[in-house]
Amino acid sequence: MLTINDANRYLLLELPDTSLPPATEEICFHLQSKGITPIITHPERHMIIQEMPYKLKRLIDLGCLVQMTGNSLTGWFGRGVKKISRQFVKLGYVHLLATDTHDPKRRPPVLSQAVTELSRLIGEKRAQAMVNDIPQKIIAGEPCF
Ligand SMILES: [Fe+2]
Repeated sequence: MLTINDANRYLLLELPDTSLPPATEEICFHLQSKGITPIITHPERHMIIQEMPYKLKRLIDLGCLVQMTGNSLTGWFGRGVKKISRQFVKLGYVHLLATDTHDPKRRPPVLSQAVTELSRLIGEKRAQAMVNDIPQKIIAGEPCF
């Protein structure tokens, strides 16, 4: 399995764009039983989770972490995504904020604006934890909480 930094502890899990496979919960449960924590990437941009946030909550209750894309909070993906991103943050559904950079031109690795936005919502200390402390632990393969 391709775990982060080959530490055998965390795995980035990107869901298919337009569906939520029925086996998702089972797969997450299975990974956890192997000591691997799935990190769900940008669920705020996922059509089904936008409509049924409880499906994300179930994955969180199973022990999954959630990584939000910074630009979702700044409105890059539109007002709808921005709104649900703020809701997810306030509900405590988000553990990490990341750039989701795919290339330096079309989606550059900019995070500062989103961190400012995040700080307004949950305070600077918790916002910094989401972009510094927690990611460092993940890279080191250490427990986050
Ligand atoms: Fe992605």
